[in-house]
Amino acid sequence: MSQTPEHTPEHAPEHVQAIAEVEAYLRAQEDKTLLRFITCGSVDDGKSTLLGRLLYDCQLLFEDQLANLANDSARFGTTGSGNLDLALLVDGLAAEREQGITIDVAYRFFTTDRRKFIVADTPGHEQYTRNMATGASTAEAAVLLADARKGVLTQTRRHSYIVSLLGIRHLVLAVNKMDLVDWDQASFERIAADYRAFAGQLGIQHVSCIPVSAITGDNVSRPSEAMPWYQGPTLLGYLEALEVERDESHRPFRFPVQWVNRPNLDFRGFSGTIAGGEVRLGETLVALPAGKTSRLARIVTADGEPDTASAGEAVTLVLEDEIDISRGDLIAAADARPEVADQFAAHLVWMDEQPLLPGRSYLLRTATATVNAQVTEIKHRVNVNTLEHIAAKHLDLNDVAVCNIALDRALPFDAYRDNRATGSFILIDRLTNATVGCGMIDFALRRASNIHQHPMKVDKAARAAANGQQPCVLWFTGLSGAGKSTVADLVEQRLHALGRRTMALDGDNVRHGLNRDLGFTDEDRVENIRRVAEVARLMVEAGLIVCVSFISPFRSERRLARELLDEGEFLEIFVDAPLEVCEARDPKGLYKKARAGQIPNFTGIGSPYEPPEAPELRLDAGREPPEALAERVIALLTERGMI
Ligand code: ADX
Repeated sequence: MSQTPEHTPEHAPEHVQAIAEVEAYLRAQEDKTLLRFITCGSVDDGKSTLLGRLLYDCQLLFEDQLANLANDSARFGTTGSGNLDLALLVDGLAAEREQGITIDVAYRFFTTDRRKFIVADTPGHEQYTRNMATGASTAEAAVLLADARKGVLTQTRRHSYIVSLLGIRHLVLAVNKMDLVDWDQASFERIAADYRAFAGQLGIQHVSCIPVSAITGDNVSRPSEAMPWYQGPTLLGYLEALEVERDESHRPFRFPVQWVNRPNLDFRGFSGTIAGGEVRLGETLVALPAGKTSRLARIVTADGEPDTASAGEAVTLVLEDEIDISRGDLIAAADARPEVADQFAAHLVWMDEQPLLPGRSYLLRTATATVNAQVTEIKHRVNVNTLEHIAAKHLDLNDVAVCNIALDRALPFDAYRDNRATGSFILIDRLTNATVGCGMIDFALRRASNIHQHPMKVDKAARAAANGQQPCVLWFTGLSGAGKSTVADLVEQRLHALGRRTMALDGDNVRHGLNRDLGFTDEDRVENIRRVAEVARLMVEAGLIVCVSFISPFRSERRLARELLDEGEFLEIFVDAPLEVCEARDPKGLYKKARAGQIPNFTGIGSPYEPPEAPELRLDAGREPPEALAERVIALLTERGMI
């Protein structure tokens, strides 16, 4: 029986030799600089083929990968029999392809004699701006692909604009498929001039244009014989030679605390990765948002305790004083502090199919913390082709805009241009948990600062006691014609008869006054509910039992209303009647008008109604009469001990 080579002593020298070679190789790798870049392009621009070509030319393919590739090319390839389809190399696993799944962002590592590279590859469909923004956030250069037959497209402009917002200073336009335009110089020059003019408007200083053919490999890593008129570098040559300014050490020190490391009572350190600048023992640091200062006592790392540490390093910091710092705080240089504010202006890239609506509550996550946030104003949207500013009431998928954003508490941050890590954020939908936007902070807004809650001596509890009741909101939601107002009216009459202090807020009524300026677009409905929720809260503060009857079609805003109140004060009552029933009743003749196309966004017809998922009470308003329904509401209040 033969032994495996690993276990045979006489093979040891070879083994050692091999290890030495690997170590030498890794040492050589360490000395090379690293370039992070991103590739952006439309589906058919040939991006995968170009990346595959780069990897192939850099001989990074191992024998088994090549065998798989030959195999896959025969099965899925689009390049004809016998040819390797390089695109298949980067388009993921065969299984994924068969299921038609594409990955979000793939990071690939490759190396040449001169440099190491990490490339973020992202799918190029229009709807994948999200992935592009993710991939671009750490990149130093962007390779944008254009098809020589089509030139610079909206997609190319959008991607260029976004990568420039993300702080990438080096753009290279790879004009691909030059073989399909007979290597024509004029075609290339026209596209290059077009692109340079656009990039110039973006203020990007370093723009290069390279004519390539990913399929034949011309000008990818090998100079093209077919295009002798082109004197510039190949794409790989360009990437190898690109000089990036990467000196982050002059920037102010920033350290988001990822966790508090407290193994025993004698040690208390703060762990995380330095997001900017450098730090030295003895330096005075400030912990934000609290604002307490202390001096740096120790820097603990996996390899010992250095005197200094800088951006990118994962360390544990120990301070001289016991100050209260928790996960999500930011430790910063005391003499170069970040902003701490609860409002800022930012560039926002919207990445969700559902539009962004001002006033809606989203989760906003920065390098340090996650808070509730609202876009309070869309200053303007940007036309990515002309860079014109356009007025907007909401944002659609892939829109880029300048917005004012308000947070529910103050956070420390920098302007994005000063620090990518502490100046960026994402927005998360609170119901689906999906990332729906990403943003770059421009500056803090001071307009509503220096306002503090004034504690009143007579408070909600005192007012409630004077009224002899427990204040709450009975929030009736449902389709128009379901019977919300009728039931709310009956409930209020019953409460009134019982001597309770009440108030009714009805959609149609409030829309005659406070909300007179609002219509029925999604954004106006969001604002309609936001206002009435705030008013209902004030009335609860006044010690009243408030009956609110608004369609309030969106879960998000009903949830906002709930969150404005204390536990148990918000009772969501779903007045549930089928659309057919409401339409048959049609008390105001509005369904008829809506069906005739005269009311374009009527709830249930041209505009959605999102039923409550867990209301405190569901009323079967299609079957039971209003009196019986009102009785059920009174029963609920009695059961809860509220009356
Ligand atoms: S909400 O959707 O913003 O909560 P609200 O309850 O204030 O609506 O107002 C609804 C009332 O406005 C309806 O009862 C109906 O009388 C009237 N109305 C007029 N146009 C519309 C519309 N497009 N959709 C729904 N209701 C409408």
